[in-house]
This record gives sequence, structure tokens and C-alpha cells, in this order.
Amino acid sequence: MDTCPVVHTAAPAQWDESRVGKRANWAGARRVSWFIRYGLPRVGLGFSARRGDLIAQMTTEPALRADPYSGYEQLREMGPLVKGRVTFATVDHAIAREVLRSPVFHAGTDLGPLPPKVTRFGASFTDPLDLGPVDAPSMLAVNGDLHLRYRRLVTRAFAAKNVAQQEDRVREITGGLLDGLARDGNSDFDLVARFAGQLPVQVIADMLGVDAADRDKLLHWGDGAALMLDPDLSWKQYQHATDGLHQLHTWVLQQLARLRREPNDTLLGRLAAMDGDDALSDVELRMIAMLVLGAGFETTVNLIANAAVLLDEHPDQRQIAMSSGNWANVVEESFRYEPPVQVTVRTATTETEVAGQTVKAGQTVLTMLGGANRDPKVFEDPQRFDVTRANADAHLSLSDGPHYCLGANLAKLEGRVALEMLYERFPNVKVLPGGQRRTNRVLRGWAQLPVSV
Ligand code: HEM
Repeated sequence: MDTCPVVHTAAPAQWDESRVGKRANWAGARRVSWFIRYGLPRVGLGFSARRGDLIAQMTTEPALRADPYSGYEQLREMGPLVKGRVTFATVDHAIAREVLRSPVFHAGTDLGPLPPKVTRFGASFTDPLDLGPVDAPSMLAVNGDLHLRYRRLVTRAFAAKNVAQQEDRVREITGGLLDGLARDGNSDFDLVARFAGQLPVQVIADMLGVDAADRDKLLHWGDGAALMLDPDLSWKQYQHATDGLHQLHTWVLQQLARLRREPNDTLLGRLAAMDGDDALSDVELRMIAMLVLGAGFETTVNLIANAAVLLDEHPDQRQIAMSSGNWANVVEESFRYEPPVQVTVRTATTETEVAGQTVKAGQTVLTMLGGANRDPKVFEDPQRFDVTRANADAHLSLSDGPHYCLGANLAKLEGRVALEMLYERFPNVKVLPGGQRRTNRVLRGWAQLPVSV
């Protein structure tokens, strides 16, 4: 293999704050920041899509956004690693795992697809209060030692043993939500607004030590922030997303200041109290708190709602689920079949070979998690939703490698308890017409899901 310039050596254990926001006070800075971060990729994707690039079309074409699975199958026919005009993509389970686990590939947008100089220029116009979940120094967008350093601070709270101890509390919150629905006496309601969206935010807010009064605001701001995961936001969407982010950052700052005055033993309290060698800058602390909080409720809502729709569409599987009580496997199969996070991206730090093709430094690979989950080499009859599937948990919906979902144990616990208790309390729950999907490309779920019980 040829050697070629390394575009990014081992990540610094300290994040360089000077890279962001130097020009954020300039008139029009926000628009410049949008243009470089989202406008240029939007133009590139549109151009490539019009020239028949399937990978780009999967972001730009409404029909493929609504049903990405047909696109994944077309990609599968094109080979294990497909080279598009802007990026590579894979729906091959083994190749996706290889890329996600490889130290040669980094997460985050710092390295590509735009030249690093352009990315840095864009960052200089970005207000630090507009930084989103895939912008450094978010844990999702840093690598190496710096990533380890951030991740270590929060790992313990989400380890299997500690999450298992939360089960009683998760059941209590779930029971409270179902009691509320039963008390209302309405036979129709929106499953997302009243149940699937509420449970994760209540659980994570509890773990972090957030006041109950703030939860609805968080949900509202978080929806905007989640848009930032998509690569092609319009200026209008960007404004909406950054308005939410701005408020979220400001709120987290206030919380951290309060916790420094009145320390407590919650996860946020412990982060706020760190000092000495462990001390992080305010931006770093804010980004960790926001990611844990936002990832805690913007994804699990989709797991629960997607599973409810799948069970509704497959009455035989619902029957098996209800009689076997194996809700843990229903959760795994729902993760596999309809992943709440459909795709993630990695950038090569040096030239490397993947599936017999050369990927140059700075080139990106989209690991299509939703496609890898239907790889017939791993899953027998992969287009069938089967809650008894023995290897359902081999899905990649929670990623793999160093960025493997920090909240995986919690998401699985919440999904299992939510479905078990929902179908126990309302065995006849039925999805009504009129549901609306979320419009995101990366996240897949429901904005509204009317049901009757
Ligand atoms: C259905 C629920 C969930 C899904 C589908 C999901 C999915 C994912 C995926 C795919 C990644 C990795 C992205 C990448 O490789 O680029 C990730 C990372 C992460 N998730 Fe989750 N997640 C879920 C729930 C949660 C929960 C409940 C939390 C709460 C703490 C959480 C916190 C995180 C964090 C902090 C990361 C970043 C980890 C890192 O970069 O090291 N997630 N998640």
C-alpha cells in the first residue's frame, strides 16, 4: 500500500478552543458557517444526485428518504464498498464493522469531505453556542485520547450493572405514563407525545439531575438539535436547529453554574464539580452534557415508536411477542429491522484499502447501518421481521468500535420495559392512520403516531 500524507495525527488530549468562533461576531457569520458546514455539502449532494449518484440520492430524494431500504438493496448489488461522487458507502455488515472498528478511520467532520482548511475556516465563523452533536468537541466527533478522556467521565453511569439498577425507576416512570393515559380515559392519543417521547426524557433527566419543569423545553430544543445530524440542512432548517441548540447550550451553562454553587451527586453535578487535571473547559463540559442528554431522548423515542409500528404491521409477530414475553428480543429485532440511527460516517486518516479498493486520506465512508442490518450473509431472510430471530442482536444499530453507543444498555432497558408494559396495559393498542414520520435522513422514527387503545 502506498504511503501518503497523514491528514490528522493522534488526537490531542486537549481540545483547541481557538479553532471555533474567532469570527462568530462578524455580520453574517451564522450564514457563512451554515454555507460551509451544510450549504456546500447540500450543493454537492444535489449536483451528484442529478448525475445519478445513488448515495447522494439517498439523502436528496424524498422517496428514498421515506424508504431507504430499497436504496440499500440497490447498493448491495453494486458491491461491498460503493464509490460515489462525494463519498464511499457500504451496506455490507463485515465491511461496515471493519470501518467502524478501524483506527485508520475517524469520526467527526473535521477531516472531510471538505478540505481541512475550508472546514477550519467555517469553524471560525461558528458561534460556540451553535455547536451540535456532530461538531467537535462533541464525543461523537473527536477521536483517540481526547475521545477516551471524555468518554471515561461518563462511562460508569451507563455500564451494565449501573443501568440494571435503574430498572425499578424505569418501570415506575413507565407505569406513571400509562396510568396518566388510562386516567385520561381517551381511547385515542399520540403515542410519541404521550409515551415514547416522554419515557426517555424522564429517565435521562432523572439520571442527570434535571428539574421536571425543564423537560418539555428540552424535548423542544432537542428536536431542533437532532436536525444537525443531517448533512444537507437548508438555511431555514439550520436557523431552526441552531435556535434550539443556542437555548440548550445556555440552559446547560446555567445548570453547571447552579451546580457549582449547590453541588450534588447527580451525573451533571459530578461533571460540574471536576477540577484539577480533570478540569474541562466550559465548552467541553457543555458538549458532553448536551450529547448525553440529547442522545438519551432523541433516539430511544424512535426505537419505541418504530417497534410499535412493526408489531402493528406484523400481527403474527405481535402475538408471539405477547405470548412469549421475550421483549428483549423484540427490541433487538426492531433495532435490526428499523434502526433509529440509519447511517454514520467515518473519514480515512491515511490512505488505506477497504474491500479491495483504495480509500485516500480525507475520503469518507458512509456506513449504512440500516443496510448492514439486512445483509443476507449475516441474517437469514433479512427482509422478514422475526421477533424470534436468534442473532437479531448482531445488528449495527448502536454502531461498533470506539464510538459504540454509550447508552446502549439504557436504550435496551427502556425499550424492553416500554414495550412490555405498554402491551400489558393496552393489549389492543392499534396504530391509526395519520402518523407522520420525522423528516430527518439520519434519524428514523415518527414525529406523530396516533393510536387507539
Ligand atoms: C434507541 C436508542 C439509541 C440508538 C439507536 C443510539 C445509537 C447510537 C449510535 C449509532 C451511536 C454511534 C454513532 C457513530 O458511530 O458515529 C451512538 C453513540 C452515542 N450514544 Fe447512542 N443511541 C441510543 C440511545 C442512547 C442513549 C439512551 C444514550 C444516553 C446516554 C446515548 C448516548 C450516546 C453517546 C454519548 C454516544 C457517543 C459515544 C461516543 O462517541 O463514544 N445513546 N448512539
